[in-house]
Amino acid sequence: MCGIVAYIGPKDATPFLLEGLARLEYRGYDSAGVAVTGRTGGLKVRKVKGRVADLAAAVPARFKGGTGIGHTRWATHGVPSDANAHPHLDGAERIAVVHNGIIENADELRAKLTADGVVFRSETDTEVLSHLIAAHVGEGVELEDAVRAALGRVVGTYGIAVLDAEQPDRIVAARNGSPIVLGLGEKEMFVASDVSALVRYTRQVVHLEDGELATVRADGFRTFTTDARTTHHQPSTVDWEIDSYDTGGYEHFLLKEIHEQPGSVERTLSGRLDERFSTAHLGGLNLDARELREIRRVKILGCGSAYYAGEMGAQLIEELSRIPAHSEPASEFRYRNPVIEADTLYIAVSQSGETYDTLAAVQEIKRKGGRVLGVVNTVGSAIARECDGGMYLHAGPEISVASTKAFTSTVVAFALLALHFGRIHDLSPADGRRIVAALKALPDQIREVLAQTEAIAELAAEYAGSAGMMFIGRVRGYPVAREGAQKLKEISYVHAEAYPASELKHGPLALISPELPTVALVPDDELLDKNLTTLGEIKARSGRVIAIAHRRPEDKLADHCVLVPKSEPELDPLLLNIPLQLLAYHAAVALDRDVDKPRNLAKSVTVE
Ligand code: F6R
Repeated sequence: MCGIVAYIGPKDATPFLLEGLARLEYRGYDSAGVAVTGRTGGLKVRKVKGRVADLAAAVPARFKGGTGIGHTRWATHGVPSDANAHPHLDGAERIAVVHNGIIENADELRAKLTADGVVFRSETDTEVLSHLIAAHVGEGVELEDAVRAALGRVVGTYGIAVLDAEQPDRIVAARNGSPIVLGLGEKEMFVASDVSALVRYTRQVVHLEDGELATVRADGFRTFTTDARTTHHQPSTVDWEIDSYDTGGYEHFLLKEIHEQPGSVERTLSGRLDERFSTAHLGGLNLDARELREIRRVKILGCGSAYYAGEMGAQLIEELSRIPAHSEPASEFRYRNPVIEADTLYIAVSQSGETYDTLAAVQEIKRKGGRVLGVVNTVGSAIARECDGGMYLHAGPEISVASTKAFTSTVVAFALLALHFGRIHDLSPADGRRIVAALKALPDQIREVLAQTEAIAELAAEYAGSAGMMFIGRVRGYPVAREGAQKLKEISYVHAEAYPASELKHGPLALISPELPTVALVPDDELLDKNLTTLGEIKARSGRVIAIAHRRPEDKLADHCVLVPKSEPELDPLLLNIPLQLLAYHAAVALDRDVDKPRNLAKSVTVE
């Protein structure tokens, strides 16, 4: 998704802008641009279709200025092109705007401005903002007031940074539905849409709230609302390691993040296991035992992989606490006028904490008086701030578009929640001990799976050319199959279907042939015999089978098998998923895909 960076201070802005944009590359984009201004006045602007490296090559050595803004664009209004790349200027080339989000009434505003004689140079919705702001500053209005006035005419979502060549002592930023974070330096200030662009320069940050603006100067900032009321913020400290933003010797961020999982799971568990009472200690829920006992249902909301992690979470909660639990895509929930119940606990799941559909679902629940917890990776993100309490994953920044370590940590977080709920209800101390011990064993067990990378890479290379793949699992295995299929299709573009193994004979068995291999989750649990019968049905139709299993099935039932260490049945899905991440990664590599930035996808979907 689009990225924003901005700098104001004593140094030249350009190196920071280019580096910051490169740090945001992982979000996915199709064009990039920068604008700077300085003491000599006037704007210097460069924008190109393509990569940040192409932009850097197009920026001449004399492109200098102490105040600047930059952008990576992911096309929504108008094709990827130099003209449609941000920043967008007004006719007099005084105002420059970078914008994330969508201005819904752009056509209407464009028509009015055109009738007034404004000439547009791009097809974007953003350009209306530059002209609207310019009209106000042209009348002698301060930049912040001009931005406020312009935003008052806009319907839609935005994160913006605005530069005025005639007021180079400030940048004005604003947020409504699309993140903006201010970075506080020593006599210099930064602005970005994502902390990853800032962490090399400062760890002190302020997240703007929806409906808030900021005037940012080299020596500080002031925040206020769209109706000019001053607001106050305490800066927070980003605790993510800087080396998380490098590939650290791995070929891709995705492979690095898959291999980081033993450590990220340890961090999710750290300080949260209570061995004395065989439960989990979760400080941030803001719910005491009595309130938790009153909960009759749990509803989990997330999008994409976060939704599938929620499905695993719902099973864990039901199994360990016997509270009915269900996961639903937040993107669907928010549009169906959901019934909000006082005795239901809602849980929003998000790695980025900025997914607009999930945020909108949280806001809808809260508006109706519901209670929402967040299971979120990014500290201080919009969803985390909106929730009544919750758990941070502490998985560290996830750079690759495809989610892996955050997915696994989300499931671990749900296991902790389920254990906590369970021990408040009827989960016995013995069962609590069983789960605590299994959670502690996970990091080493993940290491065991990762040690099989080479064998899985060979399998992936053998099957990457398939026209499609079927993923099947029963009950606990079904969300694993869904996540496995999602990972394969999103990074390798190989078609993948996920089905409950039990449903195969009710239709999709018709698809089975040597051309459509099946990845089958075959845990050694109470459903093993059923799963083996399904494998027999596939083999009887000459289907090829890759089994992800605890015990190798007979040769006649599976062509290949990846063995995974056994956990407790409730936690097995978590380990069964790891080989599927490696399978998807190596299939994508075999097909020479852009693994960390798959086509048509962005890391954080901050639009509707
Ligand atoms: C899948 C993937 C997406 C995200 C989804 C939610 O690998 O990356 O499906 O999981 O867009 O994102 P977050 O968790 O940031 O809300």
